[in-house]
Amino acid sequence: MTTTANRSGTRPIAVIGGTGPAGMGLALRWARAGEAVIIGSRNEERAQQTAAAIQHRAGPDANVSGMENSVACAAADILMLTVPFEAQAALLKQLKPAMTEGSILIDATVPLAASVGGRASRTLGVWQGSAAQQAAELVPREVSVVAAFHNLSAEMLNGDAPLDCDVIVCSNDSDAAQLTRELAAKIPGVRPIDGGPLQNARIVEQITALLIGMNIRFKGHAGIRITGLPPTAYR
Ligand SMILES: NC(=O)c1ccc[n+]([C@@H]2O[C@H](COP(=O)([O-])OP(=O)(O)OC[C@H]3O[C@@H](n4cnc5c(N)ncnc54)[C@H](OP(=O)(O)O)[C@@H]3O)[C@@H](O)[C@H]2O)c1
Repeated sequence: MTTTANRSGTRPIAVIGGTGPAGMGLALRWARAGEAVIIGSRNEERAQQTAAAIQHRAGPDANVSGMENSVACAAADILMLTVPFEAQAALLKQLKPAMTEGSILIDATVPLAASVGGRASRTLGVWQGSAAQQAAELVPREVSVVAAFHNLSAEMLNGDAPLDCDVIVCSNDSDAAQLTRELAAKIPGVRPIDGGPLQNARIVEQITALLIGMNIRFKGHAGIRITGLPPTAYR
């Protein structure tokens, strides 16, 4: 696998489900950082409208386009998945043929009970251990899965202020994890941290439910900071 500079410099990041708040916020921040971003949607027109809105906010130098999800997938080798848990498996099965060899799928899916009508501050049990591990079972073998960005508030991402949150990155592919940490570091205020193997995504996904509960109780936009590690840990 090549470096971040090569990969993100030559091929765009496709945000699958990029019309929702989480995908839009990540796309906005990466567009502002100079990354080429494709908004993916089930509906091409909705993708293009969202892309135009992000382009407008990110400025004339930004490079944001909109495509139907499978077209976006084929056009990029960094895929950011931001869809509700109940949509994740069916969508990945549908997109599998469009994924190119050597792609990275970054998964931010949180298996919230709300996605099946339960409480937003509770999670569902996932047979594979986590939503990210479920994703890893559904993509082609040549596609690396990374779990990241679960604990960022979409509302904060869609604003203009720096975030106050660390991003824990879990993957079994160290190059893919490194690339994802570099993308996380492009979001002002975010510190990326190596969270170890993909199976640790289970813990990171659960933290989001805890944060949602706090947001409901205190009416805020909670994030997390991991302290006590040497500076080398945050890169
Ligand atoms: N919101 C947050 O603060 C936050 C923070 C961290 C992580 N997350 C996680 O990130 C993911 C996205 O969050 P979100 O709040 O942006 O979600 P969302 O608004 O509910 O959905 C995002 C997009 O997913 C697509 N989608 C919805 N149902 C689908 C289906 N059945 N099949 C295919 N695509 C479908 C829709 O795009 P189209 O209709 O245009 O196709 C929608 O705009 C979730 O797993 C969430 O847990 C969210």
